[in-house]
Amino acid sequence: MNNFGGDWTKIKIEILVEYAKAYLSIMKDRTFFKLMYFDGFAGSGFIEKGKKADVKVTVGAARRIIEIAEPRPFDSYYFVEKDPVNFALLEKNTKEAFPKKKIYTICEDCNKKIIDLSNFLRDPKNSKVRTLAYIDPCGMQVEWRSIESLRGLPIDMWILVPTGLGVNRLLKKNGQISDAWLEKLEIFLGLTREEIEKRFYKKSATLFEEITHIEKEKDAIENSAKLYQSRLKEVFEFVSKPYELKNSSNSTMYHLFLTSNNKTAEKIGSEIVKKYNN
Ligand SMILES: C[S@@+](CC[C@H](N)C(=O)[O-])C[C@H]1O[C@@H](n2cnc3c(N)ncnc32)[C@H](O)[C@@H]1O
Repeated sequence: MNNFGGDWTKIKIEILVEYAKAYLSIMKDRTFFKLMYFDGFAGSGFIEKGKKADVKVTVGAARRIIEIAEPRPFDSYYFVEKDPVNFALLEKNTKEAFPKKKIYTICEDCNKKIIDLSNFLRDPKNSKVRTLAYIDPCGMQVEWRSIESLRGLPIDMWILVPTGLGVNRLLKKNGQISDAWLEKLEIFLGLTREEIEKRFYKKSATLFEEITHIEKEKDAIENSAKLYQSRLKEVFEFVSKPYELKNSSNSTMYHLFLTSNNKTAEKIGSEIVKKYNN
């Protein structure tokens, strides 16, 4: 069973479920569309928090979405989970627990399945499929090229971006970032190391362009959220305002965005986010 998270773990699920209900309500009478829910980091089905005597269990997003019956359920559910232990539990908690539902589970890397999803949606045979996706990683597992593959497709996607816990941590204050970390940032943001350095560091140089001092720009977390949002806007027509997930010391760990090619979707997503940010 997954063991992590604070109150924000529950809030991001509430945001997703509230949006899913609004989405299903709009789709209620559009029965010509086949609705698919795609979860790229599905977990085990339940989330545990706390130690031995005081363990609190939260129902994970996968089951919360399967349980929605009104205004209309999804027609199919596709769950991806890479960890074999979580995957075995996920199968038990979804496919086996809801045998009448059309549920697919796969133990794979999410990036591979996002690209498979985009190929599936691009196939004219599947032109009636509409997808709501939930991409809920704990770290920087999502590669930019996977997100890019979704360009122009009929998909609404909630995506959790590790701005504080991921990007900001790799951006060392003195600019001395290892090659491995720079490569991780490049794959995650889909930018070159020069572009990344330009965005996050101030350099002082002599008349002859010798670098004398490198300093990390202020507000790197907010800066990385803005950067990722602008990257998303290159792929999707609309991107919601983000929900900020903060820890108990009020530091931002993640930003959660909704992306879509539909204006109404963005409006609904931003309204839900606003409610929870307050
Ligand atoms: C934050 S948890 C997901 C929680 C889940 N959304 C829920 O509501 O219960 C992230 C999950 O992603 C899995 N994971 C990590 N890397 C992955 C990858 N590259 N592809 C797919 N799943 C991955 C982890 O094993 C973990 O169970």
